[in-house]
Amino acid sequence: MSSSKRKPAPGEAAPPAASVEETHFGYRSVPIGEKQDLVNDVFHSVARRYDLMNDLMSAGLHRVWKDILISMLRPPQTRAFRHLDVAGGTGDIAFRILDAGGDKVSVTVLDINGDMLEVGRTRAAGRYEGRIDFVEANAESLPFPDKSFDAYTIAFGIRNVPRIDKALSEAHRVLKTGGRLLVLEFAPVDTPLLDKAYDAFSFSVIPAMGKMVTGDGEPYRYLVESIRQFPRPPAFARMIGAAGFRRTDYRVLSGGIANIHSAWKL
Ligand SMILES: C[S@@+](CC[C@H](N)C(=O)[O-])C[C@H]1O[C@@H](n2cnc3c(N)ncnc32)[C@H](O)[C@@H]1O
Repeated sequence: MSSSKRKPAPGEAAPPAASVEETHFGYRSVPIGEKQDLVNDVFHSVARRYDLMNDLMSAGLHRVWKDILISMLRPPQTRAFRHLDVAGGTGDIAFRILDAGGDKVSVTVLDINGDMLEVGRTRAAGRYEGRIDFVEANAESLPFPDKSFDAYTIAFGIRNVPRIDKALSEAHRVLKTGGRLLVLEFAPVDTPLLDKAYDAFSFSVIPAMGKMVTGDGEPYRYLVESIRQFPRPPAFARMIGAAGFRRTDYRVLSGGIANIHSAWKL
């Protein structure tokens, strides 16, 4: 047994308890090892109504933001292109990529939540035969060899991942050299006037809407709070750079309500 594990002698002070790493779950601080289960409960409970709620909460704006993401990605028309959409949930991003690209574009939709993927499989309804697959796995530990993909997207997913740095370094690992990372994510809004209106809408209307549509407003309170805890775009761009990506940049959408971060593995 190592000396650090021995019992303190009588009269000797006990060593300080090992500190537990904490993170945010909405406005609550939780041990980092507990966040994923809490996030999973949120998405299990909203999975069936997730797409409807997205349209209601954003008045359809999420569709515009997703379309902008696809226009930035520009999936190729003729060449083979292997794409990974992480936290891909019900398939929104994957379907857009497959519709925009040629026959040689294929997409792997990865999500930690089987219920979200099941909705995605049902929505795909046999379309895109041989060009789409669904993988249940954690963004922090991707079940793919190094340099497997031409591009990686994650839309409204990264802020739910407990260890964002791990997810970003996994993104870097599985991308080929020359591969592209695109992250669509909300951020706290600092635009004067818009910030007040947005806060009022987010904290009163969204949880109430969630309760009406899904029977439970709490998951939507988490979603709203988690946006306020997410780093502002310059800080998140630095995190992307720290994972090894180059040419980091971001595009501000709708007064900063959402942003698309772009970076390359070079
Ligand atoms: C807000 S939804 C986004 C779904 C989809 N990308 C979209 O834009 O509509 C967030 C998704 O992240 C997934 N997720 C959360 N933590 C994850 C993790 N560690 N690894 C993979 N997926 C995760 C959830 O299960 C959920 O499907």
